[in-house]
Amino acid sequence: MVEPDTIIDGRYKVISRLGSGGMADVYLAEDQLLGRLLAVKLLHHHFAEDQEFVERFRREASSAAGLSHPNIVGIFDRGEWQGTYYIAMEYVAGRSLKTIVREQGALDPAIAIDTVVQILRAARFAHKRGVIHRDLKPHNVILDEEGRARVTDFGIARAGASDMTLTGSIMGTAQYLSPEQAQGHVVTAASDLYSVGVILYELLTGVVPFEGETAVAIAFKQVSAEPRPPSAVNPAAPAALDAMFAQAVTEGCEGLVCKSTGPDSSYQAGARGWQWIKLKRDYRTELADTVDLVIIGAFAGRGRRVGVYGAVLLAAYDAGADVFRAVTKCGAGFSDADLAALPARLAPLQSPHKPARVDARQQPDVWFEPGLVLEILSAELTLSPNYTAAWGQIEDDAGLAMRFPRFTGRWRTDKAPEDATTTRELVELFLTARHRPIGG
Ligand SMILES: Nc1ncnc2c1ncn2[C@@H]1O[C@H](COP(=O)(O)OP(=O)(O)OP(=O)(O)O)[C@@H](O)[C@H]1O
Ligand SMILES: [Mg+2]
Repeated sequence: MVEPDTIIDGRYKVISRLGSGGMADVYLAEDQLLGRLLAVKLLHHHFAEDQEFVERFRREASSAAGLSHPNIVGIFDRGEWQGTYYIAMEYVAGRSLKTIVREQGALDPAIAIDTVVQILRAARFAHKRGVIHRDLKPHNVILDEEGRARVTDFGIARAGASDMTLTGSIMGTAQYLSPEQAQGHVVTAASDLYSVGVILYELLTGVVPFEGETAVAIAFKQVSAEPRPPSAVNPAAPAALDAMFAQAVTEGCEGLVCKSTGPDSSYQAGARGWQWIKLKRDYRTELADTVDLVIIGAFAGRGRRVGVYGAVLLAAYDAGADVFRAVTKCGAGFSDADLAALPARLAPLQSPHKPARVDARQQPDVWFEPGLVLEILSAELTLSPNYTAAWGQIEDDAGLAMRFPRFTGRWRTDKAPEDATTTRELVELFLTARHRPIGG
């Protein structure tokens, strides 16, 4: 415990303690040099003795320091002081989501969604830069007076996760850890999104989906128990989000997803002579459910892509009819290296004729038994809207959606006419951009 007026590392004058967690105390302090308020997180002494832990704490602080985003608490400085280590960061006046849920229970669904979308933006931004949070939980999200959510502790909080779980000092947060993380497997961006799914659940219902006395009991429930959907716990929670949560906590591959198509859908853009629709991976303030698209065919590449595939034909599974219906052609979105590796990856699925359960109007150069869910590795890919196989129910305003691990992003706000996804957007964009050459 550091007394008020103590000056940390000759620069940060402690004003008060903001709170304490499993590995550190956080103080409100004044930066004597710049005269501004900030938060100083001071590692508990017993962790400072663990060399490996300290090394990771420092390294992670550096990676988090590179993240400048409106929904991420910025890191200003880090250092050593009186035998321990500290991180100086932006001070956020507000309450953590944990405090809010403790005080008022479930949030208004609109606020819950808005908050989760902000967390996703932060996660998305960090993931793109190779930083995984590892400890997303309501304690690490501070909501300010304006409703802006700020995620703290990027990559820092779990610097020593494994032993901390053993000592039990972080008990109470196991509820937010993905099974892979709890089991000590490799932690990926999808693991963070699992945690976001649990946060979404808690904000909507006021309770966590998997409860248990110990970390082990919780981990067991995660893989064996079927949690009640959020809307069953809290009738005010939109039922549409049940699927979101289910998806967040179920294993799933990253891939391209197709929302729905139909006579009125974006695919009709082809009729206006637009050859391709660009999909860009980015979140918009909406969450949608997703369908996996599998590769069922490929077209021989030309030019730069001779010898590999120029485009792949994608299908979605229609469970009612038990067929894979071709949905679109994907022309880009793979790196050159991935594209070059694709023929070999797909070879085991190759079929000399159109596979039995495939419904497609186009004739690709090579057919595949549906099996491989397309993984999109770039931030952008190009789809042919000319191939207009309609599949499933047509939903208003639903176009193509891209799945970022376990969550769906929709469309970026800075889109151009060729980026439109829904009928309404197409009309709007078409009207506003009528005199502009498409793609220009
Ligand atoms: N930048 C900040 N601005 C304002 N308050 C903060 C800031 N960072 C942390 N806090 C507050 O300090 C408290 C302690 O944070 P800390 O990260 O040490 O613990 P935690 O997130 O609750 O748990 P854990 O140690 O498991 O991560 C939290 O209640 C949080 O609200
Ligand atoms: Mg924290």
